[in-house]
Amino acid sequence: MSRIVVVSNRVPVPQGNAGQAGGLAVALLGLMQRRGGLWFGWSGAVTDAAAPPGLTQRGGVGYATIDLTEAEHRGYYTGYSNGVLWPMLHGLPHLMSFRRQDLDIYRKVNRRFADNLVPLLRRDDRIWVHDYHLLALPGALRQRGVLGATGFFLHVPFPAPDAAAVAPGIRGLVQDVLQADLLGFQTLADRDNFAATAVGFAGAARLAEDVLELGGRPVRLGVFPAEIAAPEFAATAAAQAATEPYQLLSRSLRGQALLLGVDRLDPTKGLPERLEAFRRVVARRTPRSLAMLQIAAPSREDVVAYRRLRQELDSAAGAINSEFGEPDWVPLRLLARPQTRDTVAGFMRQARVGVVTPLRDGMNLVAKEYVAAQDPADPGVLVLSRFAGAAAQLAAALLVNPHDAEGMAETICAALDMPLAERRARWRECWAAIAETSPEGWGENFLRALGPDDLARLPAAGT
Ligand code: ADP
Ligand code: F6P
Repeated sequence: MSRIVVVSNRVPVPQGNAGQAGGLAVALLGLMQRRGGLWFGWSGAVTDAAAPPGLTQRGGVGYATIDLTEAEHRGYYTGYSNGVLWPMLHGLPHLMSFRRQDLDIYRKVNRRFADNLVPLLRRDDRIWVHDYHLLALPGALRQRGVLGATGFFLHVPFPAPDAAAVAPGIRGLVQDVLQADLLGFQTLADRDNFAATAVGFAGAARLAEDVLELGGRPVRLGVFPAEIAAPEFAATAAAQAATEPYQLLSRSLRGQALLLGVDRLDPTKGLPERLEAFRRVVARRTPRSLAMLQIAAPSREDVVAYRRLRQELDSAAGAINSEFGEPDWVPLRLLARPQTRDTVAGFMRQARVGVVTPLRDGMNLVAKEYVAAQDPADPGVLVLSRFAGAAAQLAAALLVNPHDAEGMAETICAALDMPLAERRARWRECWAAIAETSPEGWGENFLRALGPDDLARLPAAGT
């Protein structure tokens, strides 16, 4: 059986990893631990000089990571990946901040990834590259003579061609990523936007719905929505009732309906818009009848837009509490720190309304986690942005436009007032959409599409 080599910016080395693992890493970890293989990427550390990869073996997985220098981190991660590609891919060009040298460094770091990875590769490896940090890597690997099956998955959205074209350098990066054999997207819309951009700006031809060609090489396109382990998350959420964080929150609510937001503190998550909608909800409802908990974990704090957002949220939260608070009650609790996954699961189970309203999101796993965390006998209601990839699967949620504060406020009030029978019916439909899938199944689907393998010899997921 061919070996799987995963390449991603973040690598969740089980111990001693300076970086934090996000949704991507969690999704892939189970698959890699079951299959074995090699995982290559950034160590999470920023050091003085570029050194060769550090190797760690844990279980069946080899982890090979490189540090970034200060200049590489600034140009590749903070600058071009998160200051240009991230806002462009999410359709927020006004947040882009482009410096020519950042693009050069982005490309250089992608080449450095390739230079360090190639000596570790075997001839029949299947390589799976992840996300917008590494768009140039498939091209860099081919240039270095790597011929093996190479897949690429984009965890974030891809916008329409004119919106993609605003990122300087995108043409060359699309051409580079087209050197892969299979490109995976979260939704059909992302796939089609990418294909239109590749044809319109990068000289590709669309041979079929799911096949592009560039320079005589065919590239397949596929849609693979990212999934969570819903039954496991449900069990975790149910088990939280006995824990201290769950009980402290529960007692503090004294019967108030809880609205909950859980996000990275990121401009794509629509947090100021969400707080404005909440302000309007509070204005309409009886004091002390509800409370909102917004957990916003700091993220990418070197990027100016993220730092500004933190200030904006602090100020908006203060304004809501000073306008509507009572001596013994504040409507909004804003926490700018992450909570453990288990604690979050318990909070989700307590929340009457899950407020997941990104301006744009590749998938948004929080939406799926909120559904999974509910008590089937008395479930809460998911209020979900129609611009999250998850909306394609969770159509029974209450879908909203995050740019319409008044519309969101009305929908949140409808969620608070929703009768039990409707809450149950909507929850059952949402649960059905996520109950049978898993991150491992998602990964296996991608790998199956990437090329033939003797999957039959593997034990089934979870066994
Ligand atoms: P993104 O990949 O953009 O961060 P997702 O919603 O797809 O967004 O995935 C985020 C993951 O990180 C989820 O598993 C979620 O539970 C977790 N997470 C997000 N924000 C927080 C937070 N503030 N505290 C704890 N966990 C969080
Ligand atoms: O979903 C996009 C993503 O970049 C993931 O790849 C990552 O797990 C998460 O956001 C956290 O971001 P960062 O790796 O920049 O901290």
